[in-house]
Amino acid sequence: MASFFVARREDPQRPKRLNPQIIGGSDSRPGDWPWQVSVQKDKTHICGGSILDSWWVLTAAHCVRKLRALPSVRIAVDSRMVPDALACTGLTVPTQWGREHKVAEVRVHPDFNLSTFEADAALLQVKPRIKFSQSQDPVLLPPDEEMDTSSWAPCFVIGWGVTRNEKRPAILQEVEVELIDWQHCQKWAPGITENMVCAGFEEGGRDACQGDSGGPLMCQGPNSESWIQIGIVSWGSGCGESRSPGVYTLLSKYVDWIKNSTSEAGKPYTPRRENTNKPSREESDPNSTPELMAIFRREMNQSVAESFTISGSCRIRAFLSMITVTWRILIYMIDE
Ligand code: ARG
Repeated sequence: MASFFVARREDPQRPKRLNPQIIGGSDSRPGDWPWQVSVQKDKTHICGGSILDSWWVLTAAHCVRKLRALPSVRIAVDSRMVPDALACTGLTVPTQWGREHKVAEVRVHPDFNLSTFEADAALLQVKPRIKFSQSQDPVLLPPDEEMDTSSWAPCFVIGWGVTRNEKRPAILQEVEVELIDWQHCQKWAPGITENMVCAGFEEGGRDACQGDSGGPLMCQGPNSESWIQIGIVSWGSGCGESRSPGVYTLLSKYVDWIKNSTSEAGKPYTPRRENTNKPSREESDPNSTPELMAIFRREMNQSVAESFTISGSCRIRAFLSMITVTWRILIYMIDE
């Protein structure tokens, strides 16, 4: 819990120590990134994604291109995501999975190229539609291709991808990164095209990694407190290494595709007219007592509510598997 209350902004000038969290990052605070989703196959996290509107989630093409069965999408509720496997171990970890949505349709960008990672973008149409709330809310897209976003700051990348010690974090990780000038980046990541953007630091240390793909790279534009998604986590050589920044699908190049493709599917992309999501770290002082109390209360309620749900569902599961085993033994004995 203590991690919620420490200031997490780091000074970009300071030499980076390699934290055990997702390549130099830290736990996000509940509700800070309400558009983040986990794209899952067989209830296992495979990639990140972001909520565009109530029908559409954006992710990377390489995450979903060869899935035979459609994936499902879980919204990150209060940034926690502990695998189901843990839920029946009797551990009293406060387990919170977000609401699960099925995927009705996968639309991979037609130009996606597996060898160059060009056009690494895909749209997932969810069902049922996502209902917005404090913990589920869409991200904003860049206005158009002409908009120069190269100097935007601060920028963050988030995800449940592997951390430095190769563990999967249960709490959504966030890390502040800087957009890197394209020409500069070409020297470090020669494979980039004009439809990609790099972010990170020359010295490395802070980056996305495996499992973060499909998730958003977001920046605050000038005169705006809203987070605008600039990129989709796509590729990189290693993770967090020096002169080897993360490479992202440059979203401004794909806004038209998003509009056309969603219209074609009969559910045109409908942006939220006004983004009321000011980052809560700016909005409120986490050290103020009411705020601390609110978070604390929320945490407590969740732990209590969740341990009931978990133990309930575990009992049912245990009961069902007992019946199955008894049935099998009976059949076996009859056969004998
Ligand atoms: N391709 C990876 C994935 O599927 C993401 C790699 C991002 N790498 C990086 N160094 N930023 O999750």
